[in-house]
Amino acid sequence: MTILVTGGAGYIGSVTVERLLAKGERVVVLDDLARGHRSAVDPGVPFYHGRVGDRTLVARIAAEHKIEACVHFAAMAYVGESVSDPAKYFENNLEQGVAFVGALLNAGVRRMVFSSTCATYGEPEKVPISEQSPQWPKNPYGWSKLAMERLLDSYDHAYGLKFVALRYFNAAGATERLGEFHEPESHLVPNVLATARGETPDVAVFGKSYPTPDGTPIRDYVHVADLAEAHINALDYLRQGGQSDFLNLGTGHGYSVLEVIECARQVTGRPIVIRVEGPRPGDPARLVADPARARAVLGWQPTMSDLPSILRSQWTWRHKHPRGYAPD
Ligand SMILES: NC(=O)c1ccc[n+]([C@@H]2O[C@H](COP(=O)([O-])OP(=O)(O)OC[C@H]3O[C@@H](n4cnc5c(N)ncnc54)[C@H](O)[C@@H]3O)[C@@H](O)[C@H]2O)c1
Repeated sequence: MTILVTGGAGYIGSVTVERLLAKGERVVVLDDLARGHRSAVDPGVPFYHGRVGDRTLVARIAAEHKIEACVHFAAMAYVGESVSDPAKYFENNLEQGVAFVGALLNAGVRRMVFSSTCATYGEPEKVPISEQSPQWPKNPYGWSKLAMERLLDSYDHAYGLKFVALRYFNAAGATERLGEFHEPESHLVPNVLATARGETPDVAVFGKSYPTPDGTPIRDYVHVADLAEAHINALDYLRQGGQSDFLNLGTGHGYSVLEVIECARQVTGRPIVIRVEGPRPGDPARLVADPARARAVLGWQPTMSDLPSILRSQWTWRHKHPRGYAPD
C-alpha cells in the first residue's frame, strides 16, 4: 500500500517523504513544482509533475498505485501574497482542493492528513490557542485553508472520509539533506540567515508597534522534522481506525521577531542588521499553540523544536547548500 504525498517537493512535504521512506513506507509524490524542487525528492520515489486539481491525473495515479492514504501538503502558503492576489489562493488551495478530494474519493481513498494552519484562527482572543478557539482568518490564505477544513468535515459526515487536519504553527529548521528554500522567500528564519550569510544587507522587520512586549509579532516555531513525525503518527492513527480530528502542531512557546533575530546572532556569531518596515496586512500579533491535544491524540511531542536547534539546523544546511536546490 502506498501513501500519496501532494506537495512532496516542497519544504515540509519533502522532509515528510524522507521520514516516510525511513520508516519503510511506499510513497508517490504529486507536485507541480510551482514552489517545490524536484531534487528535494528521492529519485527512487515515483514523481508525478502536475496539479492536484487535475482529476484525470489523480485517477491515473490511483490506478497505477494502490493508494491507501494521502498527505495533502500542496498549496500556496504566503500570507502577504494571498492578500494582494486572493484569486491565486482560492483557485489553487480551494478550487483545486475540491477537485482533488473528489478525485481521491472516486478512486476509493478515504484517509487523509491535511496541512492546515494557525492562520485559520485569525487574531486569537486567548493565547495559547486551543483547537476550540474561534476561527476567523485575517487573510485569504487562512480562509482557503478553513474552507478546506469545512469541506473535509462535511465529507466525513456524508462520505466517510477520515482525516486529521494538522494546524501547523511556524515550520522552520532543516534536516541533514533538506531545508527551507523558496524564491522569493517570505519566512523569517531563512531570511534572517540569508542576512547572516551576507546575501542581503539587512532583514526586514514588518511592524514594531504590535501589542507585544517588544512590539514585534510573536510566533510558535516548530522544527520541520518534528512536524514530519506528527504526520507519521497521524497516518498510524487513521490506520488504527481513529476518528477525524483537528490538531494544533506547535510547542506552546512563542518568540518575537526580534528574539528570533537575537538568537540567530548568537547561533551564527554574525551581526544581523535589521530594517524596520510597516506592518504586513494579514499578520496577527501573537500566534502560540496549545499543543495538548496533539500529544493526547497522536502521542506527538516535539523533540527538536527549541529555537537555537532550529536555527542551527537551517544554518548548517545552507552552508552545505549555498545555492539551495539544483534548478529543476
Ligand atoms: N511553512 C509553514 O510554516 C506552514 C505553516 C502552516 C501551514 N503550512 C502548510 O503546509 C503545507 C506545506 O507548506 P510548505 O511550507 O512546505 O510550502 P511549500 O511551498 O514549500 O510546498 C508546497 C508544495 O506544493 C506544491 N503545490 C502548490 N500548489 C500545487 C498544486 N495545485 N498542485 C500540485 N502541487 C502544488 C508546490 O510546488 C510546493 O512544492 C502548505 O499546505 C502550507 O499551507 C505551512
